[in-house]
Amino acid sequence: MKKILVTGGAGFIGSNFVKEIIQTYPQSEVVNVDLLTYAGNLENLKDIEGHHNYTFIRADIRNKDKIEEIFAQFEIDTVVNFAAESHVDRSIVEPEIFLTTNIIGTQVLLDVAKRHWKINPDDKYCRNYRDGVKFLQVSTDEVYGALGKTGMFVETMPLEPNSPYSASKASADLIVRAYHETFGMPINITRCSNNYGSYQFPEKLIPLIIYNCLNSKHIPVYGDGMQVRDWLHVKDHCSAIETVLRKGRVGEIYNVGGNNERANIEIVKLILDVLGKGKDLIRFVKDRPGHDRRYAIDNTKITTQLGWTPKYTFEEGIKETINWYLDNLDWVEGVVNGDYLTYYQQMYEL
Ligand SMILES: NC(=O)c1ccc[n+]([C@@H]2O[C@H](COP(=O)([O-])OP(=O)(O)OC[C@H]3O[C@@H](n4cnc5c(N)ncnc54)[C@H](O)[C@@H]3O)[C@@H](O)[C@H]2O)c1
Repeated sequence: MKKILVTGGAGFIGSNFVKEIIQTYPQSEVVNVDLLTYAGNLENLKDIEGHHNYTFIRADIRNKDKIEEIFAQFEIDTVVNFAAESHVDRSIVEPEIFLTTNIIGTQVLLDVAKRHWKINPDDKYCRNYRDGVKFLQVSTDEVYGALGKTGMFVETMPLEPNSPYSASKASADLIVRAYHETFGMPINITRCSNNYGSYQFPEKLIPLIIYNCLNSKHIPVYGDGMQVRDWLHVKDHCSAIETVLRKGRVGEIYNVGGNNERANIEIVKLILDVLGKGKDLIRFVKDRPGHDRRYAIDNTKITTQLGWTPKYTFEEGIKETINWYLDNLDWVEGVVNGDYLTYYQQMYEL
């Protein structure tokens, strides 16, 4: 029986992942550790709360004693590390917490896992681990920096992150890699493009557009709106992580993407059309400092070596997502509280 520690499992992608694992692998035990920052929400998990193979623990991944206790109590053999500060805009206003959570938090998890998984825990040079253990770091394509008009990110490219968020994620990737090289830790890293889908906090582009459309509020668009991103449905991201957990070669990094490049302004217009709203809601605002112009993912490695492919087309995925937000307005109102609105107005100077 697998005993999986999922960190950040009350956030957008983590909560989708926890639910998928509980449904697909009822013989696994999932321990979800989340600090419940503004981005974490137990409502995302209400379908599975009380499930006999699921435990939620509110804890900080930076708290070594607590993580030790959890490893000892549940005999964890797999870690999937989603926990992070994840919003680029916030990392520009408040970088410090991105460094402590995303870098130090990852190092704490690695250290505790190393101690618990080594065959001889007292031998500090021992590089041999129990069978079947793995540490999977959920990373992002943003660690590569920006592309020009052509080209794609491949796993061997140098990391050139441009925001405090992406720099913190790149640093975490490097420390995960170092634990593999130095200590033989069985790791994988996945680097995924932009996700969309249910339960995404409405500070991120797609739910922000939907929320503002529904409330007939202005939609802030940075610069000329021509920043290009690759978009992947969250359930396809979750299936990629699950594939890497099962089949990924130890020590390897896998890019995850949907071959679905879109300019931000194109997404805004598409959602306005689907919701029958006018373009007059669009409000171009001053561009974000260090804003990367284009990301594109080459996913050849994961598709050819591990046989993973995305299932959703963007057209069906975006319609399903818009319908989910329409059907779950209570959830949206529940997360969009006063603090968020103040932050949002300051951020975009609206
Ligand atoms: N959203 C995307 O498009 C995307 C794309 C690629 C990779 N990623 C990565 O996937 C992961 C999850 O992203 P998301 O969009 O679901 O983020 P999110 O902000 O929705 O969720 C992050 C979760 O981590 C928790 N958390 C934050 N600090 C913590 C701490 N110190 N200890 C324990 N829990 C803590 C939060 O409470 C929240 O539940 C992140 O590591 C992110 O870098 C995201």
